[in-house]
Amino acid sequence: MLSFASSLSPDSDAFVIFVTEKYVYKDKRDVLSSDTVQKINSFLSVLKVKKKEEDISSIDISDRQKCFIIRVKNKYNSYFPQERGGAFFSHLKKFKDIGKVDLYPDSLDFDSDKLVGFFSEFIFGFSLKSYKFNKYKTLDKKEIDKKINFKIVTSNRSKIEKKYKYYDAIREGVFLTRDLVSEPPNILNPKAYVSEIKKLSRLGLNIKIYNEKEMKKLGLNALLGVGQGSVNESYLVAIEWKGKKQSSQKPLAFVGKGVCFDTGGISLKPAKFMEEMKYDMAGSAVVVGLLKSFALRKAKINAVGVVGLVENMPGGNAQRPGDIVKSFSGKTIEVLNTDAEGRLVLADALSFTEKKYKPKFIIDLATLTGAIIISLGEEYAGLFSNNDELSKNIFKSSENVNEKVWRLPLHKNYDKLMNSTIADVQNINYVGGAGAITAAQFLQRFILNKTPWAHLDIAGMAFSKKAANLNPGGATGFGVRLLNYLVKEYYE
Ligand code: BES
Ligand code: ZN
Ligand code: ZN
Repeated sequence: MLSFASSLSPDSDAFVIFVTEKYVYKDKRDVLSSDTVQKINSFLSVLKVKKKEEDISSIDISDRQKCFIIRVKNKYNSYFPQERGGAFFSHLKKFKDIGKVDLYPDSLDFDSDKLVGFFSEFIFGFSLKSYKFNKYKTLDKKEIDKKINFKIVTSNRSKIEKKYKYYDAIREGVFLTRDLVSEPPNILNPKAYVSEIKKLSRLGLNIKIYNEKEMKKLGLNALLGVGQGSVNESYLVAIEWKGKKQSSQKPLAFVGKGVCFDTGGISLKPAKFMEEMKYDMAGSAVVVGLLKSFALRKAKINAVGVVGLVENMPGGNAQRPGDIVKSFSGKTIEVLNTDAEGRLVLADALSFTEKKYKPKFIIDLATLTGAIIISLGEEYAGLFSNNDELSKNIFKSSENVNEKVWRLPLHKNYDKLMNSTIADVQNINYVGGAGAITAAQFLQRFILNKTPWAHLDIAGMAFSKKAANLNPGGATGFGVRLLNYLVKEYYE
């Protein structure tokens, strides 16, 4: 929760004012002493002369209180205000003994709506960047859990609170995604994952769980084949959100790859970096986080999230290269490489979702291929789609929230590479090259009724050893902000 105060507190370690591009600010609430104003003004005049382009500066008001000055561009939206908040978090972290900070948004010389717009995103970005996953740290707990105490001095309290509520719903979604991705694979096996998802029913989400017995009956054999080498049972989970009065409204569908650990199976991966394959469930974690956000912000849409949860292990009962499975769609798949398992899970999850929910569109997310990392690195997710309008909307959203995507082609000549000699389709392309595209072509074969569909290959985006503008490193939660924006802007 945000906390507010009517004036700056004399015992805070720092306070923050916001100035325009031209270093102008207002003391609308008359909370700055004349001595403070003088100090700030003379500092700003130096900055102006030096023409320093820095966003964040600070001065000592006294020997125990600092003033941070944040410069805000007039067209602030194109400068990603959330990322300004993230940058301020990193800046503040450098000052070890700052524990109490007052924020004074009304100092910004914008009209009140613009000011609230900027400030709410700023706070949102700050909190995204402050994420920590330290539940398995037992030493130095106190130091690790240290929090900064904030107070906001403003006349726009109710407007800020309203916006904050919206962004906080998204933050909770992002944090859930990051938590799930960060959990070690011995803890977050498919069954434990199902228990985590079940907890969301408190928020009004309807959770449907399909265990192995039920999946066998339904014929989800492509998904089941991936999990058969593991002692941990596989699951398919549907998370339904009905936020629209007319429940007949077609839902928006989100499908996620939830491979809780990907050893490669019998087509075993090399040992180096194999531990990273605990995040092979990130696509599903985005879907779960997104649906949590929808529920928390009471999105006026009908939506469904479907996640296939499996563990890809070698073992006496594991799937073999060469096995042929009959998928939910009826198509037979020759499994030439058991490490191309995500597409097998998604194949069934996609055709199941299309058949059962007849959605307006389906967007799937998956850490699907190493090839997408070779193409786009850690900058862009790969976007593949059978629909230009959906693609365009995703692209525009990605530009807006700065979770970048880049569309790559689908083409019948790539599709041909997935023809099997003895089954309907094979799970890898033996010609070589275009690995992310041929994976997407494989998925497209399981969209049977021309439903608008987009596939996001987030293998390079879900997790990073490096910190970025809005995360401290580790699980990023990439996709939750993107898809929330897409829904809010184009479908709600
Ligand atoms: N989970 C991997 C893809 C991956 C690789 C995600 C690196 C994140 C980082 C996927 O299941 C996989 O193993 N794909 C293979 C496909 C190949 C066998 C056709 C790959 O990309 O090497
Ligand atoms: Zn794999
Ligand atoms: Zn995988």
